[in-house]
Amino acid sequence: MKMLVVKFWAMLCVVTSWQTMGMETMASSLGKGQRVTSVTELPDGRGFIADLEVIEQTTLYGPDINELRITARIEGQYRVHIQILDRSKPRWEIPVFLVPRNEPLAKGLKHNLELPEQQLIKLTYTTNPFGFAVVRIANDEVLFNSTPSATFSLNDDASHSFNSMVFKDQYLEISTHLPSSATLFGLGERTQPHGLPLVKGKTYSLWATDLGSTTLDVDLYGVYPYYMDVRDGGLTHGVLLLNSNGMDVEYGGDFLTWRVIGGTFDFYFFAGPTPLNVVDQFTELVGRPAPMPYWSFGFHQCKWGYRNVTELKHVVKNFKKAHIPLDTIWNDIDYMQNYLDFTTDSERYPEDELKDFIEDLHDNGQHYVLILDPGISMAYNNYSTFQRGLAEDIFLKDDQNENYLGQVWPGPVYFPDFLNPKGKAWWGNEIAEFHRKVPFDGLWIDMNEVSNFCNGTRCKFNGVVYLDHNECYVECEKPTSQWSDPPYKMIRQGAYDNIGDKTIAMNVKHYNGTLEYNSHNLYGLSEAIATNEALKATRKKRPFVLSRSTFLGSGAHTAHWTGDNAATFKDLEYSITSILNSGIVGIPMVGADICGFAGNATEELCNRWIQLGAFYPFSRSHNIIGATPQEPYVWPQVAATARSALGMRYRLLPYYYSLMFEAHNRGTPIARPLFFSFPEDTNALSISKQFMLGSGLMVTPVTLPDVTMVNGYFPKGTWYSLFDYKSKVESKGERVDVAAPSDTINVHIHEGTVLPIQEEASTSAQVKKTPFTLVVAFPAANRSGYAIGKLFVDNGDDIDMVIRKGRSTFARFIAQQSAERGILTSKVTSGGYANQEGLTIKTVVILGANSAPTGIELSGEPVSSSVSSTFDASVPSLTISGLSLSVGDEFQLQWT
Ligand code: GLC
Repeated sequence: MKMLVVKFWAMLCVVTSWQTMGMETMASSLGKGQRVTSVTELPDGRGFIADLEVIEQTTLYGPDINELRITARIEGQYRVHIQILDRSKPRWEIPVFLVPRNEPLAKGLKHNLELPEQQLIKLTYTTNPFGFAVVRIANDEVLFNSTPSATFSLNDDASHSFNSMVFKDQYLEISTHLPSSATLFGLGERTQPHGLPLVKGKTYSLWATDLGSTTLDVDLYGVYPYYMDVRDGGLTHGVLLLNSNGMDVEYGGDFLTWRVIGGTFDFYFFAGPTPLNVVDQFTELVGRPAPMPYWSFGFHQCKWGYRNVTELKHVVKNFKKAHIPLDTIWNDIDYMQNYLDFTTDSERYPEDELKDFIEDLHDNGQHYVLILDPGISMAYNNYSTFQRGLAEDIFLKDDQNENYLGQVWPGPVYFPDFLNPKGKAWWGNEIAEFHRKVPFDGLWIDMNEVSNFCNGTRCKFNGVVYLDHNECYVECEKPTSQWSDPPYKMIRQGAYDNIGDKTIAMNVKHYNGTLEYNSHNLYGLSEAIATNEALKATRKKRPFVLSRSTFLGSGAHTAHWTGDNAATFKDLEYSITSILNSGIVGIPMVGADICGFAGNATEELCNRWIQLGAFYPFSRSHNIIGATPQEPYVWPQVAATARSALGMRYRLLPYYYSLMFEAHNRGTPIARPLFFSFPEDTNALSISKQFMLGSGLMVTPVTLPDVTMVNGYFPKGTWYSLFDYKSKVESKGERVDVAAPSDTINVHIHEGTVLPIQEEASTSAQVKKTPFTLVVAFPAANRSGYAIGKLFVDNGDDIDMVIRKGRSTFARFIAQQSAERGILTSKVTSGGYANQEGLTIKTVVILGANSAPTGIELSGEPVSSSVSSTFDASVPSLTISGLSLSVGDEFQLQWT
């Protein structure tokens, strides 16, 4: 039976025709769903509000909630919002101070990516049994349909029968049909050995867990109940379930089922229709990615196990000696006294020495970031951070209203509650106090799933402090409760047996009685918000926060790394998918530990990883205590590679930074899957070992040992090697072998791009002062067409990142070429900043140029004699040098 797709305001007739069919719904131990008892339509066809009652009570996973209400709204042109809740009493919902629900901008406000004016999405519903469907208007395609197929079969031959909707206190279930043409992306953070698209037949659990990213296919640190669905032809939409409870999402192929252990159904559907539109619409709702400081796009060096300030100094010096760029040096927990937050080890990291070291870094245009863990030791009476926390009463409480005891690196700890305004204020105060002594530039917040080495409800400190000991040694009672032992058990792919394992107990109470059971997945987000605000207040500059645990909307506050990987080629490969997944959920500033966290990297692995990691949005080398040092200068080959790959990254800093500006405005990932640029190319959908930087560059790294060649997929067009322009690929949309000897990373510029680059230097601060080159790429074959690019510049550290007179400059470059002539034009908004900083474009390189020019003109006048040009027929390219074009002034450069 084909489903009738109708506008919801015409639903009454649908209701009549479907009512009779409703009774055919499959019976199951989870019942027959609900029927509508009353409906109110919202004005102007903007949706409806309906009350529902259960058709048949069942007992599996507890009694059904009988008084449900659905509010279904069409919010603007591209968004549908469906909320289903218990109308008799409030249930847990994610507070808006953690995840905002921003209204869509009104039509006509043109921030949104080139959308047509008309409505893109609509909804329909049935009354008995109740079910709803979300439909793309342009082609009547059903994007989501919750009505079991025993009643309605949809799209293709979808025949799978799933349960009707279930809504119980600790168990919610809802399903949708999916056509065979759907390819899905997203649903949480995990290491996906099978690549980027989700795998049919798998169930994905979503539960923040401290489990190394070496564990494949299980729920890790980040939780994103959201997927992107790309259909044939590249039409893409997003489905978000704004719910923080634990859940399993079964992707059955022709259906998808959400099984959630609490909260409400709070769905948002984003119509796209392109992948870029979808991230735009999604981040508009949950928060745009936070702007990151300019310096954070430089290279970062970290290691767990830097023993003292002297060792840090050596590392920084060695980078300089080896001529490898370095912007930021990091400290792991080693700097602390007994792993206590906001302290420094008096012998190894004396405050004065550390402060002098950081001031030297600052004089050199370099930066310093340190780690903070949430667990606050309760073992020392003279630990003032702890005492102030006790006085403010900001720690999480167990079921007897005692401060809940757990164990992390410093031994017995209490956990601050960042949902408590007083907890936030206390954290902010500790950060401000500590910053007076140790002037750090950014903060790394780790172990915030929350990680706890003990499982248990009531734990007691036995007076012995075991430092750095990840076996539980405090005594814990483990009484079970409906929270520790919920009726439905997430499958969690066997990661841990119980939801309370390796974290805090499920009946622990946060502010206002909020249960850990409900808010578990939000701890990292709440800590990131508190830390970001504290940094702003303390430094009065743009904050840099790196968080391990993240949730929907975390990108508005923090950068992210993919956690504890290993020094293996497999983990190098998987890092690509993990990074792309983070960008899809609005966390574009993301990287993996370069050269691997656990285990000893070999020279070959580290060489390949620095080549790849040099192009991650967030580029940091980090490894575990005890493992062989892996700073890029350690091996001669890696040092040489780092000079060239990081050298190129530093040249690309204006491009990365402009992509950050775009991300901040539209949510667009910095590192993107290929299908973001080529949604209609079905081959691009599953590419998981390559990625785009913006829309202009593609990175094709080596992910295997012992090879000197890499096979990559090249979507249609000309792709010029970024390093020498000559070794280009002309593709029809095919796989191509490209040479990848050990000193080579393949990065290609796609035709149609204008790429702003600067000169190499050892810090980002130095790069900022160097002249610009614009690389303009036309197709090499017919050498005509157009190319576009953007450049955003500001001081890199202002709290906000906006186009503002005197504080920033935004330039757009548009180039066109025909057989007779080529023109490069700039359009500038707010040029004053670039002019005042003296930013100039000295060189323009035109790839795919026709021939040696007979004339070059600037804004209609022949250029001065200091301008010269060279034509290289082997690319073919034309290089115009000796220019002096102000970035802040509009210009028109013409070659004939
Ligand atoms: C966690 C972090 C890791 C860090 C270690 C010690 O395992 O993921 O990056 O080095 O803790 O702080």
